Amino acid sequence: MKLLVTGAAGYVGGVTAAVLAESGHDVTVIDNLSTGNRDALHPDVTFIEGDVADCAHEVLAGGNFDGVAHFAARSLVGESCQDPAAYWHGNVGTTLALLDAMRATDTNNLVFSSTAATYGEPEQVPITEDSPKAPTNPYGATKLAIDYAITSYAEAYGLAATSLRYFNVAGAWHGYGENREIETHLIPLVLQVALGHRDKIMVFGDDWPTVDGTCVRDYIHVKDLADAHLLALQSNKPGVHRIYNLGSGDGYSVREVIDTCREVTGHEIPEEKAPRRDGDPATLIASSAKAIAELGWNPQLTDLKTIVTDAWEFTSQLGDKAYSARR
Ligand SMILES: NC(=O)c1ccc[n+]([C@@H]2O[C@H](COP(=O)([O-])OP(=O)(O)OC[C@H]3O[C@@H](n4cnc5c(N)ncnc54)[C@H](O)[C@@H]3O)[C@@H](O)[C@H]2O)c1
Repeated sequence: MKLLVTGAAGYVGGVTAAVLAESGHDVTVIDNLSTGNRDALHPDVTFIEGDVADCAHEVLAGGNFDGVAHFAARSLVGESCQDPAAYWHGNVGTTLALLDAMRATDTNNLVFSSTAATYGEPEQVPITEDSPKAPTNPYGATKLAIDYAITSYAEAYGLAATSLRYFNVAGAWHGYGENREIETHLIPLVLQVALGHRDKIMVFGDDWPTVDGTCVRDYIHVKDLADAHLLALQSNKPGVHRIYNLGSGDGYSVREVIDTCREVTGHEIPEEKAPRRDGDPATLIASSAKAIAELGWNPQLTDLKTIVTDAWEFTSQLGDKAYSARR
């Protein structure tokens, strides 16, 4: 397939573009490098540096694309609370421009990076797709708004689309992984402590109603996630917008993650206990049953040790290229 991948100088888009390119697909990337970097780009992709809102129409008009995988977004929860305008324009505005460019150029096949943050604090776990949607921050709200926009574009204009609601993405694949200037995700933060780029890892709350008192989250390997995007693009149907949760279906506590990182890296990894953070649910676990049944998705790398081992292999080889080494 000839595919446009937005945001592939970032983590998830970068790995997915690499998987697509290595599977023989013809991949063009648009990225404005706002949080991404060129090192994340697979050598076989065609790279266009720019904002999706500005370039999507010209790029799509210039070549017969079979589909679009749309990863480009702002995705820092705290930043979205401080500067919501940047998120409504940067996420919703940009995606509407992309949807209009797709419509104008007859590019009728989309897979979109949605998020578990569209659900907010769950009433029950595992979280299914029909659980109440109640985002607790502007980031989650913008992603939910985009999902609604995609549904109406599918119903009115015949767009073929899938939204994938990821839980916590982690791991690395073939030299592509997480390397951000501002890191907020647990596994890369713990690995930065192992590398000596941070002093300690903070553990927010050890009195939650969970197996060991620390928060439980669902980690999905980035390669399994990339595979789901290809399955979605290959099976999208005009006029239909499908929405699937993607997680491993298993939860791991913060304590289990830190202990697994200690085991994999052989480093001590100092930690410090801190009070609970507002708005942190005790447990977030996805039901991915719908994606498995309908998409034929078959996640292979669900074991936490595999996820951490792959992430460590990538992170420990970054050397000077690690943003965390430059502080
Ligand atoms: N990482 C996760 O755990 C996770 C979980 C749920 C959902 N998601 C979603 O997955 C997608 C990718 O996340 P990520 O972790 O790889 O983020 P990332 O920040 O590493 O990558 C995002 C990329 O998009 C680019 N970008 C942002 N806005 C752009 C624009 N307007 N035009 C062009 N390029 C733009 C950035 O430069 C960056 O390369 C996002 O949409 C995010 O909301 C991620």
